[in-house]
Amino acid sequence: MERCLVNSISLAYTRTGEGHPLLLIHGYPLDHTIWQPVVPLLRGAFELILPDLRGFGESDAPHEDYTLDDMAADLAGLLDHLEIERAALAGHSMGGYIALAFARHYPQRVSGLALVASHPYADPPDRREARYTTARAVAEQGVEIVASSMPEKLTANPDLQSRLRALALRQPPAGVIGALKAMAARPDSMDLLRNFSAPLVVVQGAQDSIMPVQFGRDVQKICPAAHVVELSQAGHMPMMEAPQETAQALLHLL
Ligand code: MLT
Repeated sequence: MERCLVNSISLAYTRTGEGHPLLLIHGYPLDHTIWQPVVPLLRGAFELILPDLRGFGESDAPHEDYTLDDMAADLAGLLDHLEIERAALAGHSMGGYIALAFARHYPQRVSGLALVASHPYADPPDRREARYTTARAVAEQGVEIVASSMPEKLTANPDLQSRLRALALRQPPAGVIGALKAMAARPDSMDLLRNFSAPLVVVQGAQDSIMPVQFGRDVQKICPAAHVVELSQAGHMPMMEAPQETAQALLHLL
């Protein structure tokens, strides 16, 4: 992977393809490799930039509180480093929350937005509390506590479950804790989407046990021009479970 220094963090990223820039932002507690199945399907149409977010993969994982705004600022710094002024952003789950934070802070830099198994709502209080409880458990017991329970919620495919378990186990506790606290503190972004005028794509898995398809239908109501797809064969990992259909939907960002 290539590296750049942004906001005192050494950020790792890969870059491939030719065309309009598209940032593929991974979710929690994973890294950029989740996007690999769609890369060959998209690199003819886009210049793809796949970062490991702070706290994950090969990027630095500082022992401090993170915010989604910090993570969005890292991506803005990465685009600066690459001398890219405007890009489309596709975010998976937590990556979608970060894409929304990016659109809030740098609207002029966003040429399109895709929420992949993601949504614009803030956490309800019980979900927020559960994240702080999980963060404390990870601090005491390590990432195994997350890696053992999460893969079954991500996909029904046993092969993918074991790959995702191994991927989650590789993530540093500081990054997992930082991301949990960052997600807990995020604001609602429905108003942002209501006023969003660039291409908007929502990809949802009909079998997603974390993100109900109703979230995408809510977005369709407030943004009638949005391209919203529900993939019958996918759970929470559409880019791995249904790469062709996911790539097809992301082409609507052009
Ligand atoms: C993710 O997949 O990034 C997380 O499950 C999102 C969340 O917990 O809200």
